Amino acid sequence: MAEQQKQKDIWSADLYGEKVAPFVATSTEKVLAWLDPKPTGIDGSPNMIEHFKKAYPHIESRVVDCRWLDQEPGLTNGSFNKVFSNAALHWILRDPETRSNTIKGCFKALKPGGLLVNESGALGNVAEVHSAIISGLVTQGIPVTQARKASPWWFPSLQAMKDLVEGAGFTWVKGEVQLRQTTLTENEKGGVEGWIRLFGEPFLELLPTTQARDAAIKHAVDVLEAVGRQQHDGSFTVNYIRLRFVAQKPE
Ligand code: BEZ
Repeated sequence: MAEQQKQKDIWSADLYGEKVAPFVATSTEKVLAWLDPKPTGIDGSPNMIEHFKKAYPHIESRVVDCRWLDQEPGLTNGSFNKVFSNAALHWILRDPETRSNTIKGCFKALKPGGLLVNESGALGNVAEVHSAIISGLVTQGIPVTQARKASPWWFPSLQAMKDLVEGAGFTWVKGEVQLRQTTLTENEKGGVEGWIRLFGEPFLELLPTTQARDAAIKHAVDVLEAVGRQQHDGSFTVNYIRLRFVAQKPE
């Protein structure tokens, strides 16, 4: 079994929720319609949970590294009707060594007949930004193989996700992939640069100096200017591709 290692908390609830990507939380109508949510929350980021507790003190929440969800006896006790995740599994499932632990943990958490409802990035999600970041790192002397390895995301095909979920014992109920072109914020700390600084942090950590990071980011933004800038209003659009599914623990 892979050894548990603490991960650096790269998250800022303020940047994520307000300045860079408020659309991640608000573009959830479809997946929420597949769920009747119940108020319990877990997240791997202490910053996110601290922020959540302030905003929703009456809702139970705590920090959990879901790469080892199957080892959380307080959660994986077959007492939940539903498990819901939005915009998180592509981070959590990155490492093939711990990938199935998470889905097995969801399975163990649920009562028989319980549902796992998820939305996350699908194959090709934010591919243009992903490529531009790798290209920016290469301009700063990072070999492309190393840059690719540092990617913090797993964006599977629908079939790959179905195989993983069924492999943990679930019955696949329904799933779909949807291109959702998403306009980025125009906030000073947002836009495509803010997006890369926040979400691309695990890539940028490969570079030892602020100057090298800034140069890599500038390169990525320059490349993306040719791709994502809408001509009619000048806003910046990224090709998010969502993968959503419902799976059930057999009765
Ligand atoms: C997403 O929600 O698809 C996503 C967010 C940040 C980085 C990568 C993907």
